[in-house]
Amino acid sequence: MKKIGIYIHIPFCRQKCKYCAFVSFCDLEKIDKYIDCLCKEIIGFRASEDCCVDTIYIGGGTPSLLKQKHIEKIFDALHTLPIANDCEISIESNPNSVTQEIANCWAKNGINRVSIGLQSASKKVLKTLGRIHSVQEFERAVKYVHNAGIHNINADMMIGVPHQSVRDVRKTVKLLNNQNVTHISAYSLIVEENTPMKSMLDEKIYKLPKENTVVKMYDKTCKMLERFGFERYEISNFAKVGYECKHNLHCWQCHEYVGFGVAAHSYFENERYSNVEDIDKYISLITKNESVKENIVKLTNADKIEEYIMLGMRTKYGIDLVEMKKRFDYDLLKDKNEQIKKYQALKLIDIKDNILSCTSQGFYVSNSIIADLI
Ligand SMILES: C[S@@+](CC[C@H](N)C(=O)[O-])C[C@H]1O[C@@H](n2cnc3c(N)ncnc32)[C@H](O)[C@@H]1O
Ligand code: SF4
Repeated sequence: MKKIGIYIHIPFCRQKCKYCAFVSFCDLEKIDKYIDCLCKEIIGFRASEDCCVDTIYIGGGTPSLLKQKHIEKIFDALHTLPIANDCEISIESNPNSVTQEIANCWAKNGINRVSIGLQSASKKVLKTLGRIHSVQEFERAVKYVHNAGIHNINADMMIGVPHQSVRDVRKTVKLLNNQNVTHISAYSLIVEENTPMKSMLDEKIYKLPKENTVVKMYDKTCKMLERFGFERYEISNFAKVGYECKHNLHCWQCHEYVGFGVAAHSYFENERYSNVEDIDKYISLITKNESVKENIVKLTNADKIEEYIMLGMRTKYGIDLVEMKKRFDYDLLKDKNEQIKKYQALKLIDIKDNILSCTSQGFYVSNSIIADLI
């Protein structure tokens, strides 16, 4: 049975954060029409007989802005697909749009994992980022989700933000641990083109923390989380045992996934493609029963090998050398013997039971290792 992941994009936010370049719009009037089109796209998807959906990820944007009627429509559409009984179903949320009512609705519809974006426990850093919620609203959101019976909770935090200190990062990690979350994604700020954050940095209104301060922030985060019982299973992701995100692992291990909605990406039947980014164009094409796919790229064997190495080496599971031979007819040990020996001698990579992975020191320089192996 072929296992596939499903990604659903909800491109709406109450207000754009200063750093964010994800496809999302503040025109909430379009939600009803968009959800109708999204459901039509889902229902129109023909999964082959031997397919089974084992992960669903509802991301955004801000999916917690959806009302009960939207969630119910989406799940009615999803139930036309072959969903596994133990399917991991995640939804992303912003602290100030999580209510007890909507959390109960998520649980009732089978959502079993909730991701909440805190970003920072410092009021000043939240303001710098342009976030529109408080730390108290985050704590309240976690409580509502637990009350609804969903105990697999991720929190997003950010590192390397203007006005952020190592002390702020420590405070954030401590708060998250006290909130009993099971998973933490700690992302370094990426300064994206055409964002207010980029302009404010260019105009020297904001200043990024020094590089060695950012290294200290990451180091502190890793050490504290390890002490609190979290394992770093991917460069930016930490989980309690058994709470690794199945959906992300699925993508990192190069298994197939299908994205629905504006700007959603897919990797399916040897092709990578994305949906159109313009919401009006998406609605118009779906209404006319036309395809929303664009940027279709047929992957060659060499592309697949490169992606398998690139994504696998970011995780603690590394890359399976036997699987590589089976899937791509490729012998990495033979082809990159010299490079592999060099990194083994430096104790930056390890090979155990045919699995090649970064050591904890290796994670710090994983980009150089990956570049040498592809
Ligand atoms: C697309 S958002 C969806 C969740 C929700 N809208 C929120 O912001 O809490 C997912 C995560 O991406 C991260 N993110 C977005 N833009 C980023 C950037 N430029 N640099 C680093 N992380 C970013 C944030 O941590 C955010 O929580
Ligand atoms: S970070 Fe999240 S809430 Fe902020 S604009 Fe991006 S998607 Fe919306």
